[in-house]
Amino acid sequence: MNLTDELTIIRQNSAEYITLPIPGLSEGIETKVLKVDRKKNRVVIMARFAPGGHAAFHYHHCTAVAYTVCGEWEYDEGHFQEGDIAYESIGNAHTPSSKTGTEMVLVLDSKDGRLLDNYMEDGTVLRVNIEAYENLLGKHQADIDAMSREALMVGIEINPADALPREALMAAA
Ligand SMILES: [Fe+2]
Repeated sequence: MNLTDELTIIRQNSAEYITLPIPGLSEGIETKVLKVDRKKNRVVIMARFAPGGHAAFHYHHCTAVAYTVCGEWEYDEGHFQEGDIAYESIGNAHTPSSKTGTEMVLVLDSKDGRLLDNYMEDGTVLRVNIEAYENLLGKHQADIDAMSREALMVGIEINPADALPREALMAAA
């Protein structure tokens, strides 16, 4: 069998963990972008939470499958430990965090390139689209640190008009 774009070996060491300097989006979380498929609107990433690390409260425009490589983490829907898999559907909303630290592999699938709406403490909604991960693919931390705010925000929409009200999501969560 030939290895095509449809069957690709992804080496964990093919990318580096990076930290995004966007306060409140992913505190204590490093991200490694391994694969961005614009045709299928699918991304494969890894996330590494330091003890106490937490993501912003977010709403899913994408499905996510998260395999817990090590450590433990949780959100309102449940607690995950090494080997556990989270299956998150479109419409899920939650705030993942880890007391002990964790590392996970995430596959995000979207119909249209929209991935996650992040509800920030200051009331801003930051929508992460697949272009944001494409923008980070292959970057080293030094590249990220040298990027302008504008360059960092490629693929991230601020207060998109179709974002759901935070209150409605919090009430349902
Ligand atoms: Fe999620």
